[in-house]
Amino acid sequence: MDLTVSLVDPADPVALDQAFEIKAAAPFVPDIPTASRPWFEALFRHQRRSVRHEAALAYLDGVPVGLATIEYPMLDNLDNAGLEVQVLPDHRRRGVGRALYAYAVDRIRAEGRTRLMGQSCDTLPGGVVRDPAPTAFALAMGAKSALVDARRRLDIGTADHAALDEMLTDGWSRAAGYELLTWIGVCPVEHRDDLAYLDGRMVTDAPMGDLEWEPEKVDADRIHEVDVAREAAGTRSYHTAVQDTDSGRIVAWTNITPHAEPDWHAYQQITIVDPDHRGHRLGLIVKVENLKLTLRHEPALRVIDTWNADSNSHMIAINEAIGFRPVDIWHNWQQTI
Ligand SMILES: CC(C)(COP(=O)(O)OP(=O)(O)OC[C@H]1O[C@@H](n2cnc3c(N)ncnc32)[C@H](O)[C@@H]1OP(=O)(O)O)[C@@H](O)C(=O)NCCC(=O)NCCS
Repeated sequence: MDLTVSLVDPADPVALDQAFEIKAAAPFVPDIPTASRPWFEALFRHQRRSVRHEAALAYLDGVPVGLATIEYPMLDNLDNAGLEVQVLPDHRRRGVGRALYAYAVDRIRAEGRTRLMGQSCDTLPGGVVRDPAPTAFALAMGAKSALVDARRRLDIGTADHAALDEMLTDGWSRAAGYELLTWIGVCPVEHRDDLAYLDGRMVTDAPMGDLEWEPEKVDADRIHEVDVAREAAGTRSYHTAVQDTDSGRIVAWTNITPHAEPDWHAYQQITIVDPDHRGHRLGLIVKVENLKLTLRHEPALRVIDTWNADSNSHMIAINEAIGFRPVDIWHNWQQTI
């Protein structure tokens, strides 16, 4: 058996096809659709200022059977690199994952980085049974679970719209002096600085466990770069913010990003409230208002997934009140290499 690993040339359409086929055929979990082909291709063909991606393919006797995707943060966290390893189900336990890992470690070291990070999904006690292989693989490679998240899912069909409306009425009654602001897709230029400030706080404000991840350097251009990349890949996004009426500044923000294709699945992404403006139900208000905005535009949407660290009790309470329920756990691995 001849096992080789080589870097994917982003200009090689055959290698990109092979990489995408493996990505789609070896998902982390069966109930989240694979990111769209345009999104995947753009990772390698249109490098961004804030992040750079590389892919490597593993071949068994010349047949592509495994994929490693490496992510290099470029503006901060210059010691870190992200790694995903995926091997086709029929070719597992033959050392393909190990070979991709070894290749990626060499690449990451060559870039002067000292830590790698990855994720694996595992079974939540009493929850859906997940394949134990990814967690066993990460442990076998010597990685340490530095932060555990639970994934929660909202089933739109069971959402209690009357209860959501009541939550909003109650929330707004405690939020005098704030105004709602919504947009779809690209953030208007006049609000990008406010979003950059809030986005840059995420690492300080959200629980990070033992993950070594420094605060991100986010500016208006970075906010716009992410928006443009998402739009270019055909991915829609719905944003709701709250402005402080006196200053006009955005002090709370959340967004939901549906898959470009298929249209039944979306991610509940960042939700953040400026610390100076907490205690006014703004977190709940932006989340529920944004859910309503999304549902008005996405009639085919059936489920929304979101991830929270176990210790993020305030955000979990809001999510549970909206109707999100736990599905599985996700380890965030980190390893000094
Ligand atoms: C995780 C994954 C990449 C492993 O690929 P693989 O080619 O089977 O891995 P390897 O054969 O190189 O296994 C390396 C070691 O990992 C451990 N391991 C892998 N699968 C395992 C399993 N099902 N049970 C127990 N240990 C396992 C073993 O220690 C193994 O060494 P051994 O075979 O000598 O005992 C593969 O299962 C996969 O693609 N899963 C879906 C994608 C995913 O969730 N990736 C996240 C990776 S963190």
